[in-house]
Amino acid sequence: MKIRGASDSDYNAVMRLYMQFNEDRVKTGTGEAGYRYLEAGAPWSELLADEDCMTFVAEEKGVVVGFVTLRADAFNPFKKVGRMGEIDLIVVDERVRRKGVGRRLVEHSLKHLHGRGFTHVLLNVRVDNPATSFWSKMGFRKVSKTGFDRSDGAKETIVYMVRSVS
Ligand SMILES: CC(C)(COP(=O)(O)OP(=O)(O)OC[C@H]1O[C@@H](n2cnc3c(N)ncnc32)[C@H](O)[C@@H]1OP(=O)(O)O)[C@@H](O)C(=O)NCCC(=O)NCCS
Repeated sequence: MKIRGASDSDYNAVMRLYMQFNEDRVKTGTGEAGYRYLEAGAPWSELLADEDCMTFVAEEKGVVVGFVTLRADAFNPFKKVGRMGEIDLIVVDERVRRKGVGRRLVEHSLKHLHGRGFTHVLLNVRVDNPATSFWSKMGFRKVSKTGFDRSDGAKETIVYMVRSVS
């Protein structure tokens, strides 16, 4: 398996995984999530060139089986923290989960962010998402919890998790 920066030709594969992620959310009553850069008509090519919105894909035998998107313009509520990057979204194809693909994507992301001078990484995850265990395994610690009303009126509770990348 190799981890590499996404290119134009990965758009369909990334969209397929993003749709799988949203179908799961709908099935579990959570409702669709909206990620600006993955919406229909989003300027994917331009965004790929934006180093503050970086996407990496995991490729196995020529097939994209996962992706992660990092953002540099993260909200930084922790004034004592130097530079905070953000893991915005990670999705691994449900057919190959629990085989280390997510770990490889995260390790690559941490290395990339460290190389760019970031000291910490932030993410948020739905409180009832089993992925919280994944993030704990990846060394992230819960720092706060908050609830908000989604655009469809439902309530959602998320936890913020942080880890250092030094
Ligand atoms: C979260 C996700 C990316 C994990 O990817 P993955 O490739 O299955 O994870 P890995 O196989 O690399 O797992 C790494 C470690 O986390 C643990 N882990 C992974 N998923 C887990 C889960 N659902 N519950 C408990 N532990 C989990 C693994 O057991 C493994 O631990 P180990 O090192 O002791 O063996 C994947 O489940 C996914 O795409 N989920 C749907 C999308 C999503 O919710 N993304 C997160 C939004 S914040």
